Amino acid sequence: MLSPAPQAIESVAVIGAGLMGRRLAGLVARSGVAVTLVEVIPEVLDSGLADARAMAPEGTITGAGSVRDGVAAADLVIEAIVEDLAVKQELFAAVAEANPRAIICSNSSVLPITAIAERVADGTRCVGTHFWNPPDLIPIVEVVRGERTSDETMERTYDFMAAIGKLPVRVEKDVPGFVGNRLQHALWREAIDLVASGVCGPETVDLVVRNTIGLRLGEMGPIENADYVGLDLTLAIHEAVLPSICREPHASPYLRELVANGQLGAKTGGGFLAWPDGAREAAAARLSAHVQEQLAPQNS
Ligand SMILES: NC(=O)c1ccc[n+]([C@@H]2O[C@H](COP(=O)([O-])OP(=O)(O)OC[C@H]3O[C@@H](n4cnc5c(N)ncnc54)[C@H](O)[C@@H]3O)[C@@H](O)[C@H]2O)c1
Repeated sequence: MLSPAPQAIESVAVIGAGLMGRRLAGLVARSGVAVTLVEVIPEVLDSGLADARAMAPEGTITGAGSVRDGVAAADLVIEAIVEDLAVKQELFAAVAEANPRAIICSNSSVLPITAIAERVADGTRCVGTHFWNPPDLIPIVEVVRGERTSDETMERTYDFMAAIGKLPVRVEKDVPGFVGNRLQHALWREAIDLVASGVCGPETVDLVVRNTIGLRLGEMGPIENADYVGLDLTLAIHEAVLPSICREPHASPYLRELVANGQLGAKTGGGFLAWPDGAREAAAARLSAHVQEQLAPQNS
């Protein structure tokens, strides 16, 4: 007997109206899909709704203060709450109880989807959807298969992400950090180690990255680049350099010390670099303008 055709995704609930959730709600609603934005703090819900509605056609986004009400009618739920495993596990269990059929997605940056879905009886409908900030601008969504995620959930989620204009990729194993954050933090580990071991100053690290590999990476990824320069050369370079590249399995003591001293970066006025008043806003504007400029040819 043929199984019934999977139901179309016509209604989405986004849980958490913080930095990511409000823009995720706007992104989905922008494609004409009905969205409910769920948030437990009333003022955050109000400001989140205002931001999300500014991105989408009128009447497509409603707000809800309770998870039970907010997810009941959804075909797909995207969780974007605090990055805490126990809190996410509890939320997934509550969503599954309130809605027995929706696909349940987590926007976690690094937590395994298998663990987040642990308390959901039917884990086949749980999946990772890792968007990047800002989610309406950065193209990729990593669609992450947990140990219990079904093929149907992977495919319906992948297709939905493509339908709302994202560039979905399949991540077939539930490894912490998925693909993008593993690559990013392999680079950050080495960047911090170069500074901590006195090889160069922090400004030099960024200057080198921005004016060498940074110029290339938007056009040619590491795999194509390895092929392009030749795998014999890549092999010779790896034999020579990998033994001295940082491979510490824990966060750098230098990073720990900065954090312990309250030097948290832009938000406290200093981290590796000094961040005078206004520098954080200027950096945000610079970054956003750069990303939009890079994406302009794709969007025209
Ligand atoms: N900020 C980023 O750059 C980024 C990028 C990719 C992924 N993520 C991931 O997205 C998720 C959200 O990140 P964020 O930066 O938007 O966080 P945030 O702190 O800005 O927002 C989280 C919101 O969720 C709300 N919330 C918490 N528990 C809730 C519940 N049970 N029901 C409803 N609302 C609840 C909070 O009140 C808060 O408003 C995290 O898992 C994070 O790792 C963040």
